[in-house]
Amino acid sequence: MNIYPQKIVKNMNYFRLGSSGLKITALTYGSALTIGTERHDYKYAEELIDTAWQLGIRSFDTSNNYGYGSAEILLGQVLKKYPRQEYVLSTKGSWPIGESQYEKGLSRKHILYAFEQSFERLNIEYIDIYYAHRFDSEVSIEEIVRTFNYLIDSGRVRYWATSEWPLNAIKECHRVCDRLNMEKPIVEQFIYSYAIQKAFSNGVATYCQENGVGTMGFSPLCQGYLTGKYRNGIPLDSRIAKSDQLAYNKTVNFYEQNKSRIDFFLEVCDKYGVDYLAAALQWCLRKNIFPVLGASKKEQLISNVEAINKILPNSLWNELEKVPS
Ligand SMILES: NC(=O)c1ccc[n+]([C@@H]2O[C@H](COP(=O)([O-])OP(=O)(O)OC[C@H]3O[C@@H](n4cnc5c(N)ncnc54)[C@H](OP(=O)(O)O)[C@@H]3O)[C@@H](O)[C@H]2O)c1
Repeated sequence: MNIYPQKIVKNMNYFRLGSSGLKITALTYGSALTIGTERHDYKYAEELIDTAWQLGIRSFDTSNNYGYGSAEILLGQVLKKYPRQEYVLSTKGSWPIGESQYEKGLSRKHILYAFEQSFERLNIEYIDIYYAHRFDSEVSIEEIVRTFNYLIDSGRVRYWATSEWPLNAIKECHRVCDRLNMEKPIVEQFIYSYAIQKAFSNGVATYCQENGVGTMGFSPLCQGYLTGKYRNGIPLDSRIAKSDQLAYNKTVNFYEQNKSRIDFFLEVCDKYGVDYLAAALQWCLRKNIFPVLGASKKEQLISNVEAINKILPNSLWNELEKVPS
């Protein structure tokens, strides 16, 4: 039974990732610091993923390092109940998962090991997008391209992608793929929100968008700051308050590092009487950057999906374009 208004679900648009044939929903639901980290129980994961599904989200993002693998296990378990052809699932490899030389990076040795582990944890027929989570300058781009193409040829991965790769590495990767006549990464996933726009200043977003690579932005709410939730202190049930439990304390620095843009964003939204969530998420979509967002409660997912359908005034966008440095 669908418990959410059909209007919301019907308005969930699909977008093609670059020049690939793969479409994803306007929002992708990510699982860092929530499923498998905040809580390890199936019930919590199920409530969140079922809510996302009922709201029309059909794109799910995870990684081998989220909750030390627990996020993949829980996501895979819950997604089992849904038809495999009806959603896009991405996971990632290369993030350090141990102390040794062989537990990180983009060598063929590590990536094949990391992939086999993710595949086993997800326990799912195939992975739609497999990410090279970070660039590794100690491995030749040819080795990386061949490894990810091998995974596609093995039938267990449909497309490959990069995350937070430097511009030169992306360009070189394209040259190598052309030379070898191999599949290129279809998407680059970088940090992006109104508060953090370095993907444009470093040239990555523009290059990708001009060269058929899809662009996805993680942390589109700047880890919660663009929701206005930290304006009057730290709420008890927030990521910052739970930093010990989550073993993650970086969120608190985001404000100091980006305060001019966070404050400006909230002030402009207040001036126009506009919902922060709507402005934050639609800002990304207007730049053709598809948000990979987090939500630790089902109510957050509901308001985030509602937010992408709100009509906002043009004058808001004109004013927000005056992004403070
Ligand atoms: N490729 C990469 O290297 C990389 C890196 C980081 C993340 N990611 C992906 O991006 C996803 C999202 O990252 P993120 O969690 O940092 O993104 P985010 O969407 O900027 O922040 C999510 C947090 O914002 C708060 N929030 C969300 N909706 C809200 C609402 N409606 N009202 C109030 N608060 C709300 C919640 O914080 P509270 O829990 O405090 O309530 C939630 O946990 C991850 O799950 C992961 O899949 C990828």
